[in-house]
Amino acid sequence: MPANDDQAGALTVRFLLPTDSIPVITRLLHRAYAKQVAMGLRPLAGRQDDSVTRERAANSECYVAVVEAAGGGAIAGVILFEEQEQATFPPFFLKPHVCHFAQFGVDPDVQGRGIGRALLETVERRAREKGATELALSMAEPDRELYDFYVKRGYRFVEHWQWPYTNYRSCILSKALA
Ligand SMILES: CC(C)(COP(=O)(O)OP(=O)(O)OC[C@H]1O[C@@H](n2cnc3c(N)ncnc32)[C@H](O)[C@@H]1OP(=O)(O)O)[C@@H](O)C(=O)NCCC(=O)NCCS
Repeated sequence: MPANDDQAGALTVRFLLPTDSIPVITRLLHRAYAKQVAMGLRPLAGRQDDSVTRERAANSECYVAVVEAAGGGAIAGVILFEEQEQATFPPFFLKPHVCHFAQFGVDPDVQGRGIGRALLETVERRAREKGATELALSMAEPDRELYDFYVKRGYRFVEHWQWPYTNYRSCILSKALA
């Protein structure tokens, strides 16, 4: 599905293909989450290895944003829709009318160009297609800039949650789907 856009190459958001490079996605996530790591936070996406990236993609619908360039497309962003985890989910994720997304990152070199918006639109569309009326996410509570990013996009605070593999409290946010 073509997205917009005003950047150099055309932007496409599509399902992860078997030919896509998992190490490229792991490296992209480490770069994207480096800001939170520098804050002393330990987000899984900021330190997971390739086997975890592969497993998380297999346990969800994994979408990538690809920017077309001379010589082929480059993966510039990634998002997981409806990831299934071993860890206990926050109560809100378990409600039947709620879908959720995770591991949302855009290459810092191309942030602020609408790639994140295109990925969010994709998971919002998928949530509507599944009949959900809410789309939720979990984010690190100390990252106030990120909180503002979501509030600007129509998300609101729902509840706090503590994942077993992080060193911070998370905020569960959600958006009512029109
Ligand atoms: C959150 C994230 C995926 C957004 O990706 P993106 O491609 O930059 O998103 P967009 O370009 O669609 O939107 C960026 C917004 O931030 C603004 N922005 C861009 N660069 C900015 C900067 N350096 N400082 C502040 N705001 C900035 C843009 O103006 C835009 O706002 P607008 O749509 O109201 O104009 C990306 O910032 C990221 O990878 N963050 C690190 C990982 C992370 O925290 N993920 C979420 C975990 S829950």
